[in-house]
Amino acid sequence: SPYLSTNFLGKYYMHKLVIDSTNNFAKEIASNVPDGTVIIAEEQTAGRGRLGRSWISQKGCGIWMSIILKPNIQPKEAINLTQLAAISVVKAIEEVFHVESKIKWPNDIILNNKKVCGILTEMSSEIDKINYVIIGIGVNVNCDNFPEELKGKATSLYLETNSKVDRKKLTASILNNLEFYYNAYLQKGFEYIRPICIEKSITIGRQIKVIANEGEIEGKAVTIDNNGSLVVETKEGKRLSIMSGDVSVRGL
Ligand code: BTN
Repeated sequence: SPYLSTNFLGKYYMHKLVIDSTNNFAKEIASNVPDGTVIIAEEQTAGRGRLGRSWISQKGCGIWMSIILKPNIQPKEAINLTQLAAISVVKAIEEVFHVESKIKWPNDIILNNKKVCGILTEMSSEIDKINYVIIGIGVNVNCDNFPEELKGKATSLYLETNSKVDRKKLTASILNNLEFYYNAYLQKGFEYIRPICIEKSITIGRQIKVIANEGEIEGKAVTIDNNGSLVVETKEGKRLSIMSGDVSVRGL
């Protein structure tokens, strides 16, 4: 793609017309391909979302992509990669559509209170070493219809902005941004990324409910800490930091 200006991300790249799930395919090949390999499909027949949900991936209307990374970081830090992907999608949407989307911590991209993109990060790791991470990104770009049960919750960039763009342009912009933030993160740590995660968060300052490993937690999201965890203040005034979980934000 003439739009791609990366050094390693997407240099090795596979394009599929139809596939069950790019994340599944990425998992099969991850051990045998270079760091930064990207798999893109026009259509997924069994696109997967988080928590066992399915992800609608109609032909030709969205970006259904998986990125294979092999970072030399601790497995518990892998959540930061999801956040890097999230800010990269937000920046790319800004560059291409000139609108500001927001991040519902840690992995949904929200525009006009509806979801335009979801991220599914999966990892193979040993106790203190990552074998590979697969970042699956699904962006509803030019999609113009959603099933009844998703109306009001899911949308596309086309439906929200009324402009149809070349998916290649947005894909390249996501990868360009991701390589930039990924390098910055590896060199300078999460602290460098943190202000952007905070600035672009739709979660901070709102009442939320989290289904975390620790159980169900209700409170106000107050910030994202230096590790990328979400800090929640309960009504008893206790501060808890949450590494991952399913977050529902009141009003969203
Ligand atoms: C979510 O919001 O629950 C995450 C959705 C992730 C969807 C993408 S599309 C490309 C990649 N392949 C999959 O099967 N899922 C991810």
